[in-house]
Parts: sequence; C-alpha cells; structure tokens
Amino acid sequence: MDGIHKRKDEHIDIVLNEQVTMSRTTGFENFEFIHQALPEINLADVCLKTTFLGHRLSAPLLISSMTGGTERGRDINRHLAEAARELGLAMAVGSQRIMLEDVAARPSFTVVREVAPDIALFGNLGAIQFNYGMSLRNLEDAATIIRADGMFLHFNPLQESIQPEGNTNFAGLLEKIHQVARALPVPVLVKEVGCGIAPELAQQLAERRVQGIDVSGAGGTSWASIEGMRATDPSARRLAQVFSDWGIDTARSLILCRRRLPGFPLIASGGIRNGLDAAKALALGANLVGLAYPLLEPAARGTKEVIRVLQQFMTELRVAMFLTGSKTLVDLQTRPVIRKVFRG
Ligand SMILES: Cc1cc2nc3c(=O)[nH]c(=O)nc-3n(C[C@H](O)[C@H](O)[C@H](O)COP(=O)(O)O)c2cc1C
Repeated sequence: MDGIHKRKDEHIDIVLNEQVTMSRTTGFENFEFIHQALPEINLADVCLKTTFLGHRLSAPLLISSMTGGTERGRDINRHLAEAARELGLAMAVGSQRIMLEDVAARPSFTVVREVAPDIALFGNLGAIQFNYGMSLRNLEDAATIIRADGMFLHFNPLQESIQPEGNTNFAGLLEKIHQVARALPVPVLVKEVGCGIAPELAQQLAERRVQGIDVSGAGGTSWASIEGMRATDPSARRLAQVFSDWGIDTARSLILCRRRLPGFPLIASGGIRNGLDAAKALALGANLVGLAYPLLEPAARGTKEVIRVLQQFMTELRVAMFLTGSKTLVDLQTRPVIRKVFRG
C-alpha cells in the first residue's frame, strides 16, 4: 500500500486502538438545562425533525467526515450510509483527495449513493489543496462523482504542521474559497477537524458565499495526537504533544459564531458524545450536531451497530427535550431552557 492509502488505514487503526481524545473538555459541561418537573407535553410527541439547506432530516444529526479510499474505508462508508438512510440523517464522506489521485479509490465513496440514494450527502476536500494544484474542476468532479448535495472544505492547519508530508502554505485561501463558493453548482460548506472556528473567520466565510460552517471544536478527537502517533521523528512527536489540546472548545466556538451570524447554518461537532450534549449544542444555536469518533468503531463492525449508537443518541436527545418541555427543536432553540453553571 502506498502513501495516501497507507495513511488512511493508519488513521483508522490509531483512532480505533489508541487514546486520541483531548484531555480538555468541550465546554458543554458549563451549561445545564432548567429542569421542568411538569413538562406539560407527552414524551411520545417530542419531534426531532428538521431541515438543513433544504433537506428534510428526521433528526438534527450529521455523520461527520471520516474516511474513504481503501477497502476498509468502503465498508465503513457503506455501514454509515445504510444507517443514515435507515434513520433519515445527513452524512459526509471523508476527504476525497485520494479518489482524485487514484480512480481505484472511487468505489469506496460512490458506495454511499448506491446504498443511500436519497440522503443529504456532503463531499469533503481539504481547502489547503487549492494551494497545491487542486482546481475548481477537481472540486466539481468530487461532488459529481458521489452525487453530493454540498461540499465540505476542511481546514486542518495543525494536522498539516505535524504530518511529515504536511502542506503548510495556507496563504490566500480565503479568496480562493470565495471563488469556488461562487462557482460550484452545489453549496460549499467549511469545517475544522477539531480545533474550532473563531467568529471573525466565520463572518469572513459567510461574506464569501460559504453556506454552512461546522465549527468542529476542541474537546473531542485530537488530530495532533493522531499525527503524533504516526510520527517517527522525535521533534514531530513532541510538537504533537505540545499542541494535543490546542483550539477553541466546541461550546465556545458555537456560541461565538452563532452570536456573530444569527440565522446562518451552523453545525456543532467535536467531542459530542451523548444526546444530552447534542441537546445543549442545539439549544445554544446549532442547526445540526456532527459525530465522528463515536461512530467509527460501530461502523467498523456493521450497519446495525451504527444504528444502535445513533438511536441511543436520539433517545437521549428526545428525553432532554421532554425534560425541558420542548416538543420541537424550535421550542428548544427559542425558549429560555438552558443556563450557564456558576461554580462558586
Ligand atoms: C477516523 C477519522 C477520520 C477523519 N477524517 C476526516 C476527513 O477526512 N475530513 C474531515 O474534514 N474531517 C475528518 N475527521 C474529523 C471529523 O469529521 C470531526 O470534525 C472531528 O473528528 C471532531 O468530531 P469528533 O470529536 O466527534 O470525532 C475525521 C475524524 C475521524 C475520527
């Protein structure tokens, strides 16, 4: 197996077998819901339905970008896609760079549409690649080949700084993103990979026709740690350790971006590990909640396992809504149901 293929499978092995979660937290522990002892609604009537960029979803959940490119990636994507179809959720594939470089890698991405023709599906490429030869045409191909409803461009400057093969010239990307966001026939969205997005950047992106932002904040999967474990060079390993907890936590990034951009499509991901935290993210202004790490291990086993984990999340979210008297997501998001915890 060469270069990029080997790297893809190494990432999966490391995430499955090593400790790659940040030691810092997401910040959601600083918020609590106001308990309604008399919710005045029927739990059975709590409705998780929503729409995102015009797509109807049965719950505000996104299976976040993880993989593709190898045989293992194909199985994982198939299991995730079958679960997304079964449950009516949105899904994003992992970086498609590998399939632009190697046609043989395509089936591990196209499998998603084969098994889930109707889900809201998002493609994924690194924004940095616009400084290393990637063109609008490549982005269009990536979207067309998997029949994506939108394309995520990911920002991963920390990961690239630690990877021995990393691409670190991030100069001038904002304007390149503007150009492609204007020209691509489907919406361009952006995401971090676990270090969060500052509100000033979110605003600059929204002004450049980006149509959705996943803050992917700190408190969950640490890409510095993952790359540190791949690194053989002691200097890179130390760099990874020093920056393993770097970033803006998910709650803070979400709250600040929401304050800056009322009404703008925002996704919260990064360290969301149960439906109660998902409910907090939604109450604090997220339109969708994204999950990556909690779904990898189940997806490596099978579709049923993914469905089970997602259904548990949905049950927890439903109970949080019930206990705050929120029949709908609009209720959860417009009534004063959540407060900051003051620790004396
Ligand atoms: C195994 C794995 C592979 C990932 N690959 C990608 C990727 O190719 N592109 C991307 O934008 N994000 C990628 N991510 C980042 C996730 O989409 C997400 O932003 C991040 O892991 C934070 O969410 P989490 O704490 O729930 O894992 C990957 C995450 C994991 C765990």
